[in-house]
Amino acid sequence: MKNEIDAQYEYMEKVNKINTGKNLKYAIYTMGCQLNENDSEKICGMLENMGYSKTEEVASADFVIFNTCCVRENAEDKLFGKIGEMKRQKEERGTILAIGGCMMQEKHIVDKLHKSYPFVDIIFGTHTMHKLPEDIYHILERKNKIEDVIDIDGEIYEGLPIKRNDATKASVTIMYGCNNFCTYCIVPYVRGRERSRKPSDILKEIESLASEGYKEITLLGQNVNSYDGGNGYKFSDLLRDVNKIEGIEKIRFVSPHPKDFKDDVIDAICECDKVSKIIHLPLQSGSSNVLKVMNRRYTKEQYLDLVEKMKKKIPNVVFSTDIIVGFPGETEEDFEDTLDVVRKVNFEQVFMFIYSRRVGTPADKMENQVPEEIKHERFDRLKALVESQIEENNKKYIGTIQKVLVEGRSKNNIDMLTGRTDSNKVVIFEGKEEWINQVIDIKIVSEHMWYLKGEIL
Ligand code: 5AD
Ligand code: SF4
Repeated sequence: MKNEIDAQYEYMEKVNKINTGKNLKYAIYTMGCQLNENDSEKICGMLENMGYSKTEEVASADFVIFNTCCVRENAEDKLFGKIGEMKRQKEERGTILAIGGCMMQEKHIVDKLHKSYPFVDIIFGTHTMHKLPEDIYHILERKNKIEDVIDIDGEIYEGLPIKRNDATKASVTIMYGCNNFCTYCIVPYVRGRERSRKPSDILKEIESLASEGYKEITLLGQNVNSYDGGNGYKFSDLLRDVNKIEGIEKIRFVSPHPKDFKDDVIDAICECDKVSKIIHLPLQSGSSNVLKVMNRRYTKEQYLDLVEKMKKKIPNVVFSTDIIVGFPGETEEDFEDTLDVVRKVNFEQVFMFIYSRRVGTPADKMENQVPEEIKHERFDRLKALVESQIEENNKKYIGTIQKVLVEGRSKNNIDMLTGRTDSNKVVIFEGKEEWINQVIDIKIVSEHMWYLKGEIL
């Protein structure tokens, strides 16, 4: 059987022929996490191979694609609003409209699309994204709608074209899916079970990124520390091998699961000079009772012990985290436990989420849902604590010299350069164009909640 990706390259060529000379544009709207962003980079890669060029102006696009997420919030309403707005453009301009990604794996969403938005041309899921060239070819040839969503775990397809968003930092997906079934989370239902890419494929991709001049790599997966490269090759081995790649200066990874954070990974972080010493360690809740119902499989004490162990073993380690407030049954006492962990760990960064019911997950069926106003009130209290900690932590940077990977000109002030410290803090400073994409020593002179100001030494 012909390799699936070779077949898609043939479709890309066919579509490219049809599109030649037409100066066609595409617009893409990406929701959700870095994994989705990375998928969108592949979607962009395929579209550009087919003769479309990118525009930020949806109204002038001949092809519009939504890459959806369903992890939180009422992203659904937002999406349906945007799709509704596309109807006129489709009628007037013949724009092709494709909707893909996690939300398309949910039956109730696809049903609604059929019923209320029958003008959508292509619907594809998380396991069929690579078939976009084939789908587009059929739309251009036959003009009938395409729906391609499957419920079985997709294979891993290597070699798709990719158009990266950035020239300094690149994301590399190392595994797909999740086996954990935290009771609030939709991911295992829409992304399937864990599948790891081969170490050789990952290392080849990173080597080629290094040769293109990329300096920072973020390894992505829903649960990176259960990466299984086969023959006993683990996440710690991958960290060590990526650390050896010349040209790469910084390695980050998201997200590990605290229950799988074993000593071999801690040792690898210590040994590997390029691995960032800010560790993203999703807490979700500080209450052992809530953690149990969430099916997180660690307690408050185990989480704190893990943090202590890392603080002892890894010099200058700091942490960032994800926290959900208002999980079903969360009492005031449970919430106090969350605040307690936040105080004890002193996170550099906290991604805070209000619990959102997801159809099909066990937590959605729990009867003791927390009232909206209590969720919001707790969220505000957590936010106030986190912000006061950030302010305190920022002060510690003043007067220090930080190694900053320079990413480019600041969007808010093009006279200034912007970059990030190892701990992922944004630093703004005056500098020369040729420093972009280099690591430079910067002295921090002032702090401003979401960024630090610096000066060249
Ligand atoms: N409600 C709120 N937050 C959620 N997350 C995942 N599912 C939900 C949900 N149903 C958060 C978790 C996870 C992050 C990516 O999104 O904190 O770590
Ligand atoms: Fe969702 Fe839990 Fe898997 Fe993370 S580990 S993707 S929160 S089920």
